[in-house]
Amino acid sequence: MDEEKSGPQKLKSHTPDSDLIAKARAVLDHNDLGDYIVPSRGLYPHQVLWDSCFVAIGLSHQDLDKAKLQIRRLFKAQWQNGMVPHIVFSEGSHYWWDRRGWKSWINPKSAKGVASSGISQPPMLAEAIVRIGRKLSPSERRLWYKSVYHQLVAYHEWFYRERNPDGDGLVVQIHPWEIGLDNSPSSMVEVRDKSWPLWLRFLELTRFDQIGNAFRVDTKYVPNGQRSSNLEALAFFRLQVKIRRRKYESKRILKKPFFAITDVTYNSILIRANSLLEEIAKALDEKLPEQLTEKFKRSIDSIEKFWDETDEQYYCLKYRNKQQIKTPSIATFLPLYSGAISQARADKLVKLMSDSASYGFEYPIPTVPINSKWFDPVCYWQGPTWVNTNWLIIDGLRRYGFNDQADRLTRSTLKMVKMSGFYEYFDPSTGAPRGVNNFSWTAALTLDLEFNLN
Ligand code: GLC
Repeated sequence: MDEEKSGPQKLKSHTPDSDLIAKARAVLDHNDLGDYIVPSRGLYPHQVLWDSCFVAIGLSHQDLDKAKLQIRRLFKAQWQNGMVPHIVFSEGSHYWWDRRGWKSWINPKSAKGVASSGISQPPMLAEAIVRIGRKLSPSERRLWYKSVYHQLVAYHEWFYRERNPDGDGLVVQIHPWEIGLDNSPSSMVEVRDKSWPLWLRFLELTRFDQIGNAFRVDTKYVPNGQRSSNLEALAFFRLQVKIRRRKYESKRILKKPFFAITDVTYNSILIRANSLLEEIAKALDEKLPEQLTEKFKRSIDSIEKFWDETDEQYYCLKYRNKQQIKTPSIATFLPLYSGAISQARADKLVKLMSDSASYGFEYPIPTVPINSKWFDPVCYWQGPTWVNTNWLIIDGLRRYGFNDQADRLTRSTLKMVKMSGFYEYFDPSTGAPRGVNNFSWTAALTLDLEFNLN
């Protein structure tokens, strides 16, 4: 944390809500399979990378051993090239189909004996490791950091070796699932541009895609209108097949990509993770390879490529021609979390955040602004408010000294959860619950927000 940017420390006046804390913990216990906590028992029955990191951050307040366990299991699935996969599959014959969908074993660098996906997710690992570390005594912290250091370095090296062919420090994502904000407008623009074959167009025109309802698993848990559409889901699965055929080899995939964008959220999280990795190295008196820290600097220098001077917001980039995808979304606020932008940019973002024509809702921050043609208050990443994106932005606000705004966003987030439950996402106008109930990262980050509120 940048102490000098966070301003003078205020005395704590908030007493954590013990009832909410107990309920949040009960959700995590409910989703706990022993070695790991799944995002939600029915809909997401496997371990998921950034979900587990958020879970570990929440658990760091109450159960450090369990928090560490989440991270250790993720590292057990790390590929020999350093990639940490976004899903580590649960065992059991009824998940056979899920494991076969990815067949991670077709890549010789995948972890032996572990079935996983073949892509990664926003790099929240360093943050989770440090949040755990900060709760430990100095000697325990050293041991903890030591136990994960080399694997974490290998993970960061993977980004720059495999996902930054241009060497400008910004890394590319090869599937919307990798970005974590699955059907976010910028991803959908790219999918429609590059991976929308004739047969999908035909289904769209004829509405034959409705047949897909019979095959979808997620809509057994959540109403259709709150998920990716059938067409989006089909396009995502098609993309999965395409990258599987190339055995998840970044070089081969990026030669002629089916989907490739340089996402603002992902890169902002990476920049922050880099600085946290440096903090870990420092605590261990280790020296990170110079080649790597040089790349870290380049990432910071390149973040302004996302900035659009006319619209005064950050946009994702197309991989091929580096052009901005000018569809506004919550991604514009994530550079606050990176800590790499100027105070002047941060001021502009804070102003935009409270603008009632776009993001200023009763229960902010919507994933897409109301004045966008993509906005839908109930549909997944195309409008609803999510607790994890709020958490990242709250952290970013504090880095730039916006403590009042951070407290306000924390209170509205907690109010929404208290009122509606530990849902996956929420309607930004009413705070009504959407998505699946008993969702792990909502519970875990509620714990963290409760404990950290002033
Ligand atoms: C959805 C989300 C993704 C999350 C996963 C498990 O796919 O879009 O970000 O990791 O669910 O919760």
